[in-house]
Amino acid sequence: MSTPALEQSRIKAALLIHQGKSLYMGGKTYEIKQQGFELMKQGCLELNQYKKQEPSQDYSKLAEQKNDQYYKELQQMKQYLLSYENFVKEQQNKILDKKLENQNQIIENQNQRINRENIIIKEKLNVLWEDIAGLEQAKQSLKEAVIFPLQFPDLFQGSRQPWTGILLYGPPGTGKTFLAKACATECHGTFISVSSADLLSKYSGESEKSIKELFQLARSKKPSIIFIDEVDSLASDRESSGPSDNLKGVKNQLLTEFQGIGSNNDQVLVLGATNLPWAIDSAIRRRFEQRIYIPLPDYEERFHLIQNQLRQLPNNLTTDQMKELANKLDGYSGSDINNLIRDASFEQLRIMQKATHFKKVQIQNQMKYIVCSASDPQAEKIALKNIEQTQLKVPEIIYDDFLAVLPKCKPSVSKNDLEKYEDWTKQFGQKG
Ligand SMILES: Nc1ncnc2c1ncn2[C@@H]1O[C@H](COP(=O)(O)OP(=O)(O)O)[C@@H](O)[C@H]1O
Ligand SMILES: [Mg+2]
Repeated sequence: MSTPALEQSRIKAALLIHQGKSLYMGGKTYEIKQQGFELMKQGCLELNQYKKQEPSQDYSKLAEQKNDQYYKELQQMKQYLLSYENFVKEQQNKILDKKLENQNQIIENQNQRINRENIIIKEKLNVLWEDIAGLEQAKQSLKEAVIFPLQFPDLFQGSRQPWTGILLYGPPGTGKTFLAKACATECHGTFISVSSADLLSKYSGESEKSIKELFQLARSKKPSIIFIDEVDSLASDRESSGPSDNLKGVKNQLLTEFQGIGSNNDQVLVLGATNLPWAIDSAIRRRFEQRIYIPLPDYEERFHLIQNQLRQLPNNLTTDQMKELANKLDGYSGSDINNLIRDASFEQLRIMQKATHFKKVQIQNQMKYIVCSASDPQAEKIALKNIEQTQLKVPEIIYDDFLAVLPKCKPSVSKNDLEKYEDWTKQFGQKG
């Protein structure tokens, strides 16, 4: 017969096993299952004790059978718990890996950002105000906006606030980018130059971030100028870009930063340049308080441009010939004129290349070859490629060279285009 103590031991074992098993089965976490396992193990140990003390063979046998069965279950549970533990560890490792990956990503992003900073802060360029022909009004406005406020901040207090947005617009090749470069040379602050291509990323959301960073950078290094060339491609008109407008976010971000919402844009000037002022979104247009028309060069400016360029090239043009040329080049932009002069400067080389006869003439105690006609008594039949460079007289550009290239160097801006700029100026702009 079993004693009360023995009976108690049996009940205790049964309770522990029951509790442990249900904790294990119902437990939702590893820890609870583990607790259940431990309870059941204690229960089995208890049952083993009981079995040893039970005088009745039948009861003892029964307890042993039960205990064997429970041990089997415990073994299964233990295996499961082990694999569960491994699984949890794996997951934790994965999370750790992910964290590391994220961290690497963050570092990479930072590196990219630093690279971007390197791209956008350009070294000072060597363009001076004097290098720019004409455009006096534009230069004056830029000096007011760029040079004076930085040099004499005390003068720009109260209602005399410096401009915060200036747009240079006009036909291509008239010196808008050139003017901005002069600002970079002459201003004493940070000059950040970006093209829309730098800012527009193919990844959605990246462009907005770039713009945000751009302005943050400018604010942190103020006084500063942000120069956005070809600003139209960044801030094009909402209506004309249609519903599939993936620039919308970019424009909104630009507008937000431009307005300085939630941040101080004090001493940050946005300088924009565009050939397509009418393509600019009206809200952004308004933020460019000053809109300066950079027109085609007039007669005086063309003369100035020609004179400047020819100063660097060997030529024999008289002042009158330069004036005549300036007259002929009505409708040509600054870069058209540069191209024409470059083309004319090749003209003598073309003539030399085609020439079959050269003659030697004395130039500063040296005999050098120049082109001549076959009928010249001193003519030698020789091709350019057979003449050494030191023996060749560097040819001067002559007026005829210009006349020769003029028919193929057409102005790049049409009358129609010009009317569009004039119309827009009447509506929104001011003469530069
Ligand atoms: N007013 C000017 N004075 C001096 N150079 C000029 C002027 N206008 C145009 N140029 C010449 O033409 C080139 C192109 O001008 P750029 O400023 O790039 O034109 P855009 O107005 O299209 O930005 C310049 O590099 C410069 O050499
Ligand atoms: Mg330009």
